[in-house]
Amino acid sequence: MIIAVDGPAASGKGTLALRLARHYGLSHLDTGLIYRAVALRVLKAGERPGDEAAAVKAARNLDLDGLDSEELRSSAAGEAASIVAAMPAVRRAVLRLQREFAKRDGGAVLDGRDIGTVVCPDADIKLFVTASPEERARRRHEELRASGGDVSYDEVLAEINARDERDRARAVAPLKPAGDAHLLDTSDLDIEAAFRAAVAIIERHN
Ligand code: CDP
Repeated sequence: MIIAVDGPAASGKGTLALRLARHYGLSHLDTGLIYRAVALRVLKAGERPGDEAAAVKAARNLDLDGLDSEELRSSAAGEAASIVAAMPAVRRAVLRLQREFAKRDGGAVLDGRDIGTVVCPDADIKLFVTASPEERARRRHEELRASGGDVSYDEVLAEINARDERDRARAVAPLKPAGDAHLLDTSDLDIEAAFRAAVAIIERHN
């Protein structure tokens, strides 16, 4: 079984995807980490994330090892990731990696922005996870504070809105639900409730 979980920044899709993977005994890939890794390589090479040649070079020989590094989770990496992710050549360079992961024995859960639309259009189940921008900013702000950051709620909200706008407006693989995706609004759901709602959708449709 392949489960595609898409949604905007801090919608809870990553946590949900991980829980679903554990529940069904499937492998899990957070595809945002791939774009974050590309962006970080560009930054570390002293180049700008907007430099397409540098971004494509960083994307070409990437593999899935090392995607658990803590530095990938910073706001700076997320922001730079959404810049390199808007480049069609970067997306092409990391597509096969994701499709091969999805074909693993028994299946997989992948989360991102374009899993249901581009990476796995034939996924058995597609979930599109949303929450209001304010709720998403509240969650991300709490997360950042818990890990010692001192960024304000307003800054986090502005960053989330800017990133969503860039992800939705881009010409290639924009953030949008697949026609056959099930929408899951988690604004009023905690992690456990969102997980239960997702399992109910999966049991109903699979
Ligand atoms: O965890 P969060 O939602 O903050 O971000 P992420 O999932 O790690 O993704 C970081 C950035 O990578 C996003 O803003 C997207 O621009 C890009 N991305 C993408 O274009 N396609 C994907 N399948 C996953 C992420």
